[in-house]
Amino acid sequence: MKVLIIGANGKVGTQLCGKLWGVHDFSPIALIRDSRQQTKFTGIGVPAVTGDLEEGVSKFLPGLDAVVFTAGSGARTGPDKTTDVDQNAAIQLMMDCEKQSVRRFLMVSAIGADPNSQSDRLQHYLRAKGVADGRLRSSNLDYTILAPGTLIDEPGNGRIQAAENLGFHGYLPREDLASAIIETLRNHLTIGKTIQLVSGSEKIKPAIASVVGGGDLPPIA
Ligand SMILES: NC(=O)c1ccc[n+]([C@@H]2O[C@H](COP(=O)([O-])OP(=O)(O)OC[C@H]3O[C@@H](n4cnc5c(N)ncnc54)[C@H](OP(=O)(O)O)[C@@H]3O)[C@@H](O)[C@H]2O)c1
Repeated sequence: MKVLIIGANGKVGTQLCGKLWGVHDFSPIALIRDSRQQTKFTGIGVPAVTGDLEEGVSKFLPGLDAVVFTAGSGARTGPDKTTDVDQNAAIQLMMDCEKQSVRRFLMVSAIGADPNSQSDRLQHYLRAKGVADGRLRSSNLDYTILAPGTLIDEPGNGRIQAAENLGFHGYLPREDLASAIIETLRNHLTIGKTIQLVSGSEKIKPAIASVVGGGDLPPIA
């Protein structure tokens, strides 16, 4: 599966590229914003292309099987950038994928993403993510929305709790999110689903399979 990682230089994107390197059924490409970031990826054997979501990345889409959106404007920017990147650039990417028939789209969203979020602390972010998720659900793409709890940098232990609606919040190591992204891309029953994830006691593969009603499935080529 030839997959473009959008936000590859970020904390989740870096973990994901590291895990995808050398996995026989994946051919990852890192989308970075600054060519100086390139050596980090060539160092782990993942080719990188330089582009900015806000300027459009459609030229990188032909020939891809999938995109993973794990970009984000980050906590250091203001609400305008959140709208520009997490919402509008994500939606533009969906439209470009539709036009160019890149059908598989994995969105990293967040627990609580909702266009009408009333969150005290993260309302603008959760609304922007919620609007983007809503557009993705109404697209004709083969999407999956992974909605993790608060991401932490501790090493993963390969165990999560997953459900379409967990009903509570929690934490998740970025490393485990990266592993969950790979399992989701491999499991075609995740298409059309939103899956919330936090740390838990179940291994990642069966945890995801139990949400979407599948057991072991062959990888999608
Ligand atoms: N933090 C949390 O607790 C939390 C919880 C749930 C979900 N999430 C979501 O998880 C995802 C990954 O989080 P993370 O911790 O890995 O974030 P991160 O470290 O801040 O990485 C975000 C990446 O997005 C890239 N980016 C920003 N604007 C861009 C643009 N215009 N064009 C191309 N790339 C752009 C950044 O590029 P540069 O490296 O060049 O700056 C960075 O590499 C995000 O979608 C976030 O919303 C986070």
